[in-house]
Amino acid sequence: MTIENDRLPVLLIGGGMESREVIMPTLFQERRRGKIGWIGISSLTGSVIQGLRKYFPNEEFTGYPDPDKVDPDKEFPELFKEALDELPEGSLVIVAVPDHIHTTILLPALERGLDCIVEKPLCLLVEDAHKIIEAADEKALYILTDYHKRHDRAVRAARARYRKGDLGELLHGHAWIEEKKEMPLKNFAAWAEKSSPFEYIGVHYVDAYYFITGLMPKRLAAFGQKKFLPTQGKDAFDAIQAVIEWEDGSVFWIQSSWVCPESNTALTNQGLNLHGTKGEYWADHKNRNLSFTIDDTPYEHYNPNFFRPYDSWEEEGLVDWVGYGYESIQQGIDDMVTIRQETKGLSEKEALEKRRELLAKWENLRALPRQALIGVAVNEAVRLSIDNNSRYVGFDEKMYPKLL
Ligand SMILES: NC(=O)c1ccc[n+]([C@@H]2O[C@H](COP(=O)([O-])OP(=O)(O)OC[C@H]3O[C@@H](n4cnc5c(N)ncnc54)[C@H](O)[C@@H]3O)[C@@H](O)[C@H]2O)c1
Repeated sequence: MTIENDRLPVLLIGGGMESREVIMPTLFQERRRGKIGWIGISSLTGSVIQGLRKYFPNEEFTGYPDPDKVDPDKEFPELFKEALDELPEGSLVIVAVPDHIHTTILLPALERGLDCIVEKPLCLLVEDAHKIIEAADEKALYILTDYHKRHDRAVRAARARYRKGDLGELLHGHAWIEEKKEMPLKNFAAWAEKSSPFEYIGVHYVDAYYFITGLMPKRLAAFGQKKFLPTQGKDAFDAIQAVIEWEDGSVFWIQSSWVCPESNTALTNQGLNLHGTKGEYWADHKNRNLSFTIDDTPYEHYNPNFFRPYDSWEEEGLVDWVGYGYESIQQGIDDMVTIRQETKGLSEKEALEKRRELLAKWENLRALPRQALIGVAVNEAVRLSIDNNSRYVGFDEKMYPKLL
């Protein structure tokens, strides 16, 4: 198959909940806006592709595997490599597979010289993060981790005011992020035991604290409970908490869980408090003071800022997907469009230099791998602390966690 390369070709590897609810609507919208050309979706089975075709009946995309040609229930864990091989130079790969296999998908994409957006967390081990950084550095490849909270105005406001000095020096902070039981029991039933509420969602607030302050974590102690999920046949954590001390001596507590009642008024409880020498930030990131109460539907807290369809300004009957879920992926797509424009017609050597120049410009502004490494390191340290009776864990100069 020859893939048209006038506009950015995008291969999405995944096809699950995050792909269906956020990434694919974003890709189709950006194609409508002229940024993207060809779209391919590589998944584990043909039945996932069949489901996506039903979900998006008016959108065209190439499916790997093709459910018309294979048994739809047969698994093809290595087929994504064939899909990667078909991509022309300058394509974008989006990785949205379970957390514990990000690295096995990312490294083959990088070997082929392809730029990537990857769902958070970048990966689960510091060792893997360094392999990814090394592979990306060699060819000056772009890898953006989708930490969408960085695009939430409620988090950007904290960053802007903290960096302006309004909060003074930070003393302590507190974040909570907790999802419904359907996540480990239904949506992530296949991989809940290989992840945890901290690695899956708690890490959002590790990254948010780092994004807001620019501080490095110094040491942490973590705690985990397995009380409810084992009664459902799952050897997985219900909840995990970590207390993290940062290089300036400030302390940040994060509590995460995925066993909230199904009757909760939103999928996710979440919020952030920061207390500094000159002021305080307090935000409920779940209850944005907007709710719907509708016949036969449970009372719902509605976050208008996340990823929502609003009546389009472009055409009657269309929707515009708006919000930080969109902006985070859009940033990666726009950066890729820039890379393609700026390197067009250049020799290989000149293109490499131009790429290095662009990446250096974005290094401190984006969740590129050296920034995403912080969340990876804290995730790994949290595991290590819990496995060692909540002992303190510090970090060496390459962010490898070590027991203290
Ligand atoms: N940005 C966010 O806030 C956010 C929200 C939800 C999920 N996520 C992240 O997105 C990623 C995916 O989550 P999800 O909710 O879509 O999970 P999911 O379990 O619903 O979907 C995973 C998909 O990966 C596919 N897959 C597995 N192995 C594969 C392989 N070898 N080749 C091709 N496809 C393969 C499966 O077919 C499945 O469709 C995770 O890393 C998760 O942490 C991020």
